[in-house]
Amino acid sequence: MVVEEIEVFPPRDHEIRIKVVATGMCHSDLYFLVDCEGWSGFPAVLGHEGAGIVESVGPHVTKFRPGDKVIPVPITQCGECRFCLNPEKTQKDIFCKGLSRGSWCKGQTLVQFAGISTFSEYTVVSEVALAKINDSAPLETVCLLGCGIPTGYGAAINIAKVKPGSTCAVFGLGAVGLAAVMGCKAAGATRIIVIDTNKDKFEKAKVFGATDFVNPKDHARPIQEVLVEMTNGGVDFSLECVGNVDVMATRVWKVSPSWSMNIWLKN
Ligand SMILES: NC(=O)c1ccc[n+]([C@@H]2O[C@H](COP(=O)([O-])OP(=O)(O)OC[C@H]3O[C@@H](n4cnc5c(N)ncnc54)[C@H](O)[C@@H]3O)[C@@H](O)[C@H]2O)c1
Ligand SMILES: [Zn+2]
Ligand SMILES: [Zn+2]
Repeated sequence: MVVEEIEVFPPRDHEIRIKVVATGMCHSDLYFLVDCEGWSGFPAVLGHEGAGIVESVGPHVTKFRPGDKVIPVPITQCGECRFCLNPEKTQKDIFCKGLSRGSWCKGQTLVQFAGISTFSEYTVVSEVALAKINDSAPLETVCLLGCGIPTGYGAAINIAKVKPGSTCAVFGLGAVGLAAVMGCKAAGATRIIVIDTNKDKFEKAKVFGATDFVNPKDHARPIQEVLVEMTNGGVDFSLECVGNVDVMATRVWKVSPSWSMNIWLKN
């Protein structure tokens, strides 16, 4: 990764230029950086978890105006087509019109990562890749709503459909895992077991509702055996939020019917 000065174009039809105020770093950015096999999208501006302020709008933009606080969204949604209107559809199914153009650096076209590229001070996005947010929202924290939080929270609520009184296991406690814990709690789970190889993550997970804490490094035997024993036979829901196929295949599937949120990155 390098820091460069780039040229960001003025917005064209149905496009909006945003001043990016804050951006999170999702683990997916890192995957494209270190494991980009099959992806020829370099040079690119990475980043897809941002929040900012509309700087200017192109022709035919009616829903946004300069000064609006916004969150660019990597999964575009027009809100009108039959895919967007179907509540059963997930990110895997929806990719509406409107991926944006890239910007320029030293005469080269830069690829617009996830259609939004939030690791730059300004970015141009399609109007279907943008959500307007409340004026009082603190941009430096709500940027996480661009990816990590809805991914984890939505996996628990919309995909797993966690039930009140259930026991859940959440593997990995980054933004996605912590949001999954939040979703399990909101859905009424009474026991939320979190598993992370970094014990420093447990304190924060407790704030979000985790009740039991397991570090695989503290156990000589496979972690699925530990979980099955802790829960008298297995959990009701398990959510893999590490992004590790091995964790998914050998650990999650053996402790319950599993739900994976890594549907488009790893499968
Ligand atoms: N829409 C999507 O499909 C989507 C969206 C966002 C993130 N993701 C993916 O979700 C995953 C998590 O993203 P993030 O930004 O929260 O990542 P992160 O790196 O912030 O967090 C991952 C956590 O997993 C822990 N961990 C690593 N190996 C482990 C193991 N073997 N067992 C238990 N814990 C382990 C780490 O200590 C860390 O706390 C990534 O694979 C990312 O690409 C997918
Ligand atoms: Zn992401
Ligand atoms: Zn649509």
